[in-house]
Amino acid sequence: MKKFAGIAAMFALCTGLAVAAKAPDETKLREGMKLAGKTNGALGKKIAAKDATAAADAKALEGAFKESHKFFKKMKAADGVDWSKTATTEYAAISKAVAAGKWEDAAASHKKASATCMACHGAHREKLADGSYKVK
Ligand code: HEC
Repeated sequence: MKKFAGIAAMFALCTGLAVAAKAPDETKLREGMKLAGKTNGALGKKIAAKDATAAADAKALEGAFKESHKFFKKMKAADGVDWSKTATTEYAAISKAVAAGKWEDAAASHKKASATCMACHGAHREKLADGSYKVK
């Protein structure tokens, strides 16, 4: 029994359960995600419509993923850090492209930023029975 408990503890450590128990504050991550949920699709439409207000949305999203970057760094989840980095880089590129009237570049960056959503959610987001989400 004692041996089993030892193995279970090792297993918990290895699978990251011990890390999850000390997960960093999710408030800012969640705020950023809510913003992303509201803004990212609309941003795509604005780019397609060559609407210059897209730059402000991209800037806000860049900020949201900077928070996400900090969060996953604290979680010591390298994949989450990488996806957050890609998102911040691409949103920054969108702001610049929009300012320069390079709409095709903006659309390409938007596509790359949007690809991070599914990738990271697949790895780090769990939908609960009540429809809310938790970090995994
Ligand atoms: C680096 C990882 C990562 C990336 C990239 C990411 N998400 Fe998330 N997202 C999460 C995690 C983790 C949660 C669960 C948050 C929680 O429960 O606190 C989440 C939750 C959400 C939620 C639900 C928020 C709520 O509580 O109502 C929305 C909406 C969302 N993400 C949208 C997006 C969109 C849109 C993108 C892409 C533009 C995106 N996310 C990119 C990790 C990520």
